[in-house]
Amino acid sequence: MEQTLVLLKPDAVQRGLTGELITRFERRGLKVVALKLMRVPDALARQHYGEHEGRPFFPGLVEYITSSPVVAMVLAGPQSVKAVRQTVGGTDPVWGPDDPAAKFALPGTIRGDFALMKGRNLVHASDTPENGVKEVALWFRPEEIVPWARDTDRWLYE
Ligand code: RTP
Ligand code: MG
Repeated sequence: MEQTLVLLKPDAVQRGLTGELITRFERRGLKVVALKLMRVPDALARQHYGEHEGRPFFPGLVEYITSSPVVAMVLAGPQSVKAVRQTVGGTDPVWGPDDPAAKFALPGTIRGDFALMKGRNLVHASDTPENGVKEVALWFRPEEIVPWARDTDRWLYE
């Protein structure tokens, strides 16, 4: 089953939203197969956001993700990468009729319901299945992933 890395960023933990956000993923039918609270080392933050190195927002992004603990988890399910990104919403929580929809979070998504700024957008989620594999390996040791059979699986997967 496809796996994806989800980080509940420092704003989610500080604002006491971790339970509510995990609930949204569980309710969607995604299965938690790894979960931990952790402080993000600077080197891990830089590696994780390596694709953004050199961009003007990069120093602020590293500062944000390392500023306070995050909850890191691996979610599994059919097309879990797409499903999670859909539940999370686009990067920028606030937008207007002239803005391209894909980059923005609709109401009903996590960012559309709980966030106001892209630099405080609560959640990271892998953007492709290939990056999902890489990011799960970057954040979790193999023994931290716990595959398990859920009794409701047959009511979620046809
Ligand atoms: P994420 O990687 O966190 O799941 O978010 P994403 O795919 O929607 O956005 P991405 O383009 O990968 O950017 C990573 C994070 O960097 C921050 N950001 N700030 N100030 C800016 O222009 C800007 N652009 C991106 C956001 O926190 C975004 O989630
Ligand atoms: Mg991204």
